[in-house]
Amino acid sequence: MTFTAAQTRTWTKLYEMLEPRVLAHGSQDYVTGFKQLDLPKDEIPSIAYLNEKITPATGWKTVRTSVRYSDAETWYREFAQKHFLVTDYIREEKELEFTPEPDMFHDIFGHLPFLMIPAYTEFEEMFAPAFLRADEEQREDIKRLAWYSAEFGLIRQDGELKVFGAGLLSSAGEIDRVMSGGTPIEPFTVESVIAIPKSVWEFNNVLFVADDIDHYKRELARYFDGL
Ligand SMILES: [Fe+2]
Repeated sequence: MTFTAAQTRTWTKLYEMLEPRVLAHGSQDYVTGFKQLDLPKDEIPSIAYLNEKITPATGWKTVRTSVRYSDAETWYREFAQKHFLVTDYIREEKELEFTPEPDMFHDIFGHLPFLMIPAYTEFEEMFAPAFLRADEEQREDIKRLAWYSAEFGLIRQDGELKVFGAGLLSSAGEIDRVMSGGTPIEPFTVESVIAIPKSVWEFNNVLFVADDIDHYKRELARYFDGL
């Protein structure tokens, strides 16, 4: 797959905006995975490049899709096979700070460093089996649990607030807002998370923090084991 000069320029600009922020504020697992994955700055990485690093580390595989926004059912059927879908769409240059629609910068830069880390993929692997056996109402809860953990979660690491969610790790505007204290933060529990709808069109009004990745796993298990 080849990309236009404008798409590559957008990738590079986003990379330059986000790299210092994720190195300063990303959770330990993300930063470790980011260094191991070693994404190129001057070109959009190929699927072959990504899989050469990711698959030996955790067994996961990235798969390119031309679908701009995969529905949850499709997404989790792929997830169940350790396939991570990467869209071939990238945001416009005017949307560098925020895009409501997950694009390939979000998919690659936000999520894939984590797929180098087995403790993280164990957490992600909890979602698909639960989602696929849940009813419609439970599926909405599961989407919120994923939104406020994998996409927008925070972690308290050695007393410091760190960014865990891939949606934050690929949004300079929202990282800045959260790290400057602009977003109210509450402890991550199933009950508080499923009460709050996802905030797709604007920055989140509240976010949730966990003590560590095991805290997320314990809370998810509390809900998923009952399905
Ligand atoms: Fe995402």
